[in-house]
Amino acid sequence: MSYNTFGHMFRVTTWGESHGVAIGGIVDGCPPGIKFTTGELQEWLDKRKPGQSRFTTQRREADEVQVLSGVLSKEGSDEILITTGTPISLKIDNTDQRSKDYSNIKDRYRPGHADFAYDVKYGIRDYRGGGRSSARETAVRVAAGGIARRVVEGLFIRGALVQIGDKKINRDHWDWDEISNNPFFCPDKEMALEWETYLDHIRKKGSSIGAVIEIVADGVPAGLGAPIYAKLDQDIASHLMSINAVKGVEIGNGFEAATLSGEENADEMRAGNDGNPMFLSNNAGGILGGISTGQSVVARFAVKPTSSIHTLRKSVDAQGREVDVQTKGRHDPCVGIRAVPIGEAMVACAIADHYLMHRGQTGRI
Ligand SMILES: Cc1cc2nc3c(=O)[nH]c(=O)nc-3n(C[C@H](O)[C@H](O)[C@H](O)COP(=O)(O)O)c2cc1C
Repeated sequence: MSYNTFGHMFRVTTWGESHGVAIGGIVDGCPPGIKFTTGELQEWLDKRKPGQSRFTTQRREADEVQVLSGVLSKEGSDEILITTGTPISLKIDNTDQRSKDYSNIKDRYRPGHADFAYDVKYGIRDYRGGGRSSARETAVRVAAGGIARRVVEGLFIRGALVQIGDKKINRDHWDWDEISNNPFFCPDKEMALEWETYLDHIRKKGSSIGAVIEIVADGVPAGLGAPIYAKLDQDIASHLMSINAVKGVEIGNGFEAATLSGEENADEMRAGNDGNPMFLSNNAGGILGGISTGQSVVARFAVKPTSSIHTLRKSVDAQGREVDVQTKGRHDPCVGIRAVPIGEAMVACAIADHYLMHRGQTGRI
């Protein structure tokens, strides 16, 4: 199976399956001299970890990351690692697989999941937890994203869940401090309470629901990207679209731009105090002509409802016979929650990649 690598200069390759011994990856192209700790990678991983609340899958994984290569310990500190410029190898053991949960879908295709398409393509499928199509793989991306955040000095990336089903947050209530106060990474305190009742209802029915996640990157230097085939927005969209269950990506005001006039949409400029232009709005999401402007980079992505649900659904089996499918394995009633740290990591990797490409081409930052 090819295509397990993303990025041009900050290149991440992942390996492993949901129900194998371990998952892992290699970050190649990370510059030497970047400092990070395993502890900080762990903090990002803990945000994605399953079983954090009753609203995420009850699979219990410690998701402990090991850094196997590409670093030296800083003198006098076991904790601080310094990259050497060689491939950084990451490994996370799988400890809570329950493969028998999946025996009833061994030859049956879950509607909405990758099962059918996977079989058509490869002719062989690890049905336990979805194999490579399982979002378990995204844990490695989160660890890689932790390193990417360190590549660009001053980069600060945050994500929030802004919609579950048709229940959107009130943007006037947006408070970044709230996202750590509820199990949803929700910046609107009132909506977080409403989501609790709503998602409890969905969870108890054995059903699932979709969501929208917003990622905001501050501290992105102006000038990253290129006007056509290496647009920063193009690569952010591609990175986000590669996350399991993502069905749509928007940059800035996204699809709303289609409803606006030129006067409403274009971000007007005035002379800023620091000699750089000051934008009076940010409909562009911090990117113009594929190149970052120095404003916050804003991206949103929509995830579909989890397809492994407890309700009986019509399908076919590998022999083409009509069957009913009911998934017994543990699942996330709304994958949007755990997609927040994954989205942050993918945006971090895209920005680090473009930072290195920009430096390579222009010799400056
Ligand atoms: C964090 C996260 C957790 C997920 N957990 C599940 C799950 O428990 N059950 C499931 O059917 N799909 C889950 N998915 C979605 C599937 O991995 C995804 O729908 C599947 O690979 C098919 O790919 P596609 O939806 O991109 O077409 C999850 C996705 C994410 C981002």
